[in-house]
Amino acid sequence: MKRNGETAFQRCIIPSCGWTGGIREVVNKCPRCGELVDVAYEWEKMPLPARLADFDARAADFRNPLNFSGVWRFKPLLDFAPDADVVTIGEGRTLLRPSVSAAEFAGMRPGNLFLQYEGLNPSGSFKDNGMTAAFTHARMVGARIAACASTGNTSSSLAAYAAASGMMKAVVFVGAGRIAGGKLYQGLEYGARTVQIRGRFDTAMRRVMEVTALKGIYLVNSVNPFRLEGQKTIMYRVLEGLNWDVPDWIVCPGGNLGNCSSFGKAFMELRDLGMVGRVPRLAVVNAEGARTLDIVYNERKVRWNGGRPDAEGIAAYFKKMDAEGIEAHTIASAIEINRPVNLKKALRALEAMNGTVLSVSDQEILDAKAAIGRSGIGCEPASAASVAGLRRLVERGVVSGSDRVVCILTGHLLKSPAGCIQYHLGGKGGPGKELAEYGIARNPLANPTVEVDDDLDAILKAMDDV
Ligand code: F0G
Repeated sequence: MKRNGETAFQRCIIPSCGWTGGIREVVNKCPRCGELVDVAYEWEKMPLPARLADFDARAADFRNPLNFSGVWRFKPLLDFAPDADVVTIGEGRTLLRPSVSAAEFAGMRPGNLFLQYEGLNPSGSFKDNGMTAAFTHARMVGARIAACASTGNTSSSLAAYAAASGMMKAVVFVGAGRIAGGKLYQGLEYGARTVQIRGRFDTAMRRVMEVTALKGIYLVNSVNPFRLEGQKTIMYRVLEGLNWDVPDWIVCPGGNLGNCSSFGKAFMELRDLGMVGRVPRLAVVNAEGARTLDIVYNERKVRWNGGRPDAEGIAAYFKKMDAEGIEAHTIASAIEINRPVNLKKALRALEAMNGTVLSVSDQEILDAKAAIGRSGIGCEPASAASVAGLRRLVERGVVSGSDRVVCILTGHLLKSPAGCIQYHLGGKGGPGKELAEYGIARNPLANPTVEVDDDLDAILKAMDDV
């Protein structure tokens, strides 16, 4: 139910359904048709800055916790909550940085490739942008327990917010053995009840939907529309980092497809509000071992189609995956997902941003990751899919070397060093057995260690070429 004075509400993403609900309702799917829902605003009743550059004053006011947060300093563009309900732990203070080494790797002109480094967030990934918004809504509705299914970053973020805010208990469902050590460790350290389900992410996702509905637990996966409101701000910060100039391309990895969906929503809204003159193009990059969006978009040609996506086409592909026992498998475990829950919103984003979808191999991902690292920016494998995808797009002539491109680096290097460290340690002979499982046989950007006797001459020799 809508309360007097509230200018935000919820609505079904399918225009022909037309369901709307109050901002304090907890719905993870449309109560009328079962599709995803959006947070929407009566913009004309809301005080908005005249230009995006007017947000600069808020960035300078960092002693105010709402403006310290890289999410809430854009509050006028996601104003669904009273200030007093905002739950923030200093998320979104992230940077846009040019990277010469990644530009060279991708075939871009140096200075034209920027990396939006979301690994700088409190729990080490972009998820904190969304979690602060979900927790804010959870506070508005008085929730006591929050849960998610996760490949590890959503769960780390949930666990951190639950513990830091002291507001809620956290339960996380993960695929047993399918989560990087650093991420599992975060959830344990922050005190979340961690349920390892014998299965993969998609199993955990199905179960968490079932369990949260059964027990009335607050679900913070990205089917929760408030998550995506927070993640929109990544795009605002990209624009801020470019002095409010719109880039030509945004490139991001695709897993459960919440992030790319939120980018599409950010730009649809900015365009409708007349705050940007044009919208960048979007490239969503899957790992080859988890390429559902790539197949649905490029092979099955499913499109948003102005709000009438081919739901049967998608369902038919999911059925085929089940029938053939296709299981996602990639070193980028963060995006090892078969059934992305935000698929339809992602299709909408691709339409709004004249997007493209592609897949890259695990070999390309680790090579790209090492190239990014040479700029002093450490990201996890899933993040590097963006730069690996960009290289392919440049090779194909879809992106020109002189375009201005922003790749979103979603998570920190230290989240999942196991395995990846072998890329370097394997030495000249290749990365070794552990990575062979993922088809990674080469390590052209390896930086192996040098082991020497405890002898001054030997030590100096090992440093000869530095
Ligand atoms: N990069 C990283 C580091 C991620 O953790 C994820 C998703 C993605 C990219 C993909 O983003 O799902 O919005 O398309 N991780 C989720 C999790 C699934 O459970 O942490 P998406």
